[in-house]
Amino acid sequence: MTLFADQNINIGALRKKAFNYRWAEVPEGTIPLTAADPDYPAAPEISRALIDYIRDGYFSYTPKLGYPEFAQALSTALARRKGEEIPPRLILPIDSAARGMYEIARAVLRPGDEMIVFDPADYLFRESCLAAGGKPVYFPARLKGGYIDLSALENYITPKTRMIGLCNPHNPYGVLYRGEDLEHIMGLCEKYDLYIMNDEIWSDIVYADPSGSSGPSGSSGPGGFLSVYSLGNERCRRVMSVFGFSKSFGIAGLRAGCVYCTDEERFAEIVKVSAVMTTAGGISSLSQVAGIACLNECYYWVDEFVRHLKGNRDYAAGRINGIPGLSCHVPQATYLMYVDIRQLGLSSEGFAEHLKKNAGLAVVPGGRQYFGAASEGYVRICFATSRELLTEGLDRLEAGVGLL
Ligand SMILES: Cc1ncc(COP(=O)(O)O)c(C=O)c1O
Repeated sequence: MTLFADQNINIGALRKKAFNYRWAEVPEGTIPLTAADPDYPAAPEISRALIDYIRDGYFSYTPKLGYPEFAQALSTALARRKGEEIPPRLILPIDSAARGMYEIARAVLRPGDEMIVFDPADYLFRESCLAAGGKPVYFPARLKGGYIDLSALENYITPKTRMIGLCNPHNPYGVLYRGEDLEHIMGLCEKYDLYIMNDEIWSDIVYADPSGSSGPSGSSGPGGFLSVYSLGNERCRRVMSVFGFSKSFGIAGLRAGCVYCTDEERFAEIVKVSAVMTTAGGISSLSQVAGIACLNECYYWVDEFVRHLKGNRDYAAGRINGIPGLSCHVPQATYLMYVDIRQLGLSSEGFAEHLKKNAGLAVVPGGRQYFGAASEGYVRICFATSRELLTEGLDRLEAGVGLL
């Protein structure tokens, strides 16, 4: 039996444990294709590592900068999977990628400073900027030829701009950046002395595409992913990055993540704002143990997951593009379909509400709240589930459109 067989999903457990717009928060009978969180249980090595850790009953403080094995494991994985050369001493384990984004924003932005936030993009870029007292300046990130068109990005830089948010691969578009795109962004940062908040949380969920929207050539990561670090560590001194476990390893509730960079001073600043040295900040022992198991033992699981997801992606794209009034592109990365509903003549919220009420399906509406104003007229569908549940979900989507 394969890891990602239909019967391996435990709906009873999900109903009790999967929050954040998912099974535990929707009415019984509703299928949530909502928050980006897999329906499958995590790799068994993670539970085993946790059970080994708790057996002797000790739950003592951990090192303030995290277990050295954690930073070492991430340093090794970054080099092996993405060609990034980050020394363990410049990796800070922290309690989620989201927290990492907040700490980077606090380390860089002073009240009134501007940060360029792509619209659409995950709302954590905007929220982390706002929480640091910064001002998000929205860059309309439109697709051109399967990539984000960056030609107008410079027009959004002002004397107050301090940082650009880079979501690579991009949520919700599911697109990658080419070498020339990264060069363009870095060139602007060098010209105007800006930092980059680099979020690569989706970089393991990338599809090596023989057809359709193919990935860039000359890449160093899985399936065509190209990191900004391909520009060289020296140029990346202005880059601060987050690593997350929620998307690739399915351990969102453990709140594990890391911040890393190549500049000692920036790193010291991040350590300072994160308050790990006073123990007010930081990551739990259990989350670190799980994170170490992920990095050292579970990439076989991630690779198998991506193979499963690729089948789901192609199936979902075919189905969605066959529904009158809906359309989507085939994502190069992520397990998210960004669905254009503008032909239906409904708002994103209105359509999502209609599906929930009349079709037993929950999706994430576009619009300002989650991805930015430019995502109005779209909904986002997560396909990190079994083919069986995805089929049922898409049947409901089709039926829901039919009811309009
Ligand atoms: C682009 C992006 N960054 C960060 C996060 C947050 O990840 P975590 O659960 O590790 O905080 C998400 C979750 O959806 C995401 O899509």
